[in-house]
Amino acid sequence: MPEQPNGQNIARVYSEQAKSYIDFAPTSFSWQFIEKPAFDRHLRDLCRPQVRVLDAGCGSGRIIEHLINNGIQPDNVTGVDISQNMLDEARKKLPEVKLIQADLVDADLPTNHFDLITAAMVFHYLDEEGLKRMMANFHKWLKSDGVLFYVTTHPIRIVNDNLSLYQKRGWRNEKTPWGSETPFFHRTTADFINETISAGFTIDMIDEPDVAKEGERTNPEEYSKYTSFGASRLVVRARKV
Ligand SMILES: C[S@@+](CC[C@H](N)C(=O)[O-])C[C@H]1O[C@@H](n2cnc3c(N)ncnc32)[C@H](O)[C@@H]1O
Repeated sequence: MPEQPNGQNIARVYSEQAKSYIDFAPTSFSWQFIEKPAFDRHLRDLCRPQVRVLDAGCGSGRIIEHLINNGIQPDNVTGVDISQNMLDEARKKLPEVKLIQADLVDADLPTNHFDLITAAMVFHYLDEEGLKRMMANFHKWLKSDGVLFYVTTHPIRIVNDNLSLYQKRGWRNEKTPWGSETPFFHRTTADFINETISAGFTIDMIDEPDVAKEGERTNPEEYSKYTSFGASRLVVRARKV
């Protein structure tokens, strides 16, 4: 079992892996055929110029770029990431976006400020306490009725070779599709949902997206891999009440 990482360890992991992640992320199979379609399906109503967005764990900026391409005004977007190397890459592509280096577990951002917070593929770097604190921050930073939209690796995908591990919460090492290993905190689907509700959100929608059919034509090998997982992503849209 890997040592429980704190924010600094994750920052170091991502600084070491920045180059390979940056090369991988914008055209990755899962982004093109699972995650991006989920953003398009579930956030269409919020892709308007005046919507104020925080992209939490923005990495090298593919989510922000996508939201801007779909109508959100760049100067209404804030990206936060713990890794300076990832932010340096985002800054090259997104000069008008406010990018902040901080740990979202204890970052200081304005209260009741954002209409939308997005967090893609970030929560598995947080243990129970870390996720609780991040969710509480998201709730504080959103305006009333603001939307939290998150995408995570589906818990089933992590244990699909041995379902008896499903209830075994905790840190493990996972091989990444960009050719490295990262620490990964496994929790169940119920844990995600309960943490969301405990932080004060109501759930509007849960999606366990299919892989888009187009992925089969584009890359049959990856298509067959991702369809063999059962569900590979868990997508939640929640609202601050
Ligand atoms: C798999 S990448 C995803 C990046 C981006 N959301 C995307 O979909 O391309 C995970 C990102 O989360 C960031 N991260 C992890 N823990 C964090 C924390 N506690 N605070 C801020 N950023 C964090 C990492 O530095 C990394 O850039």
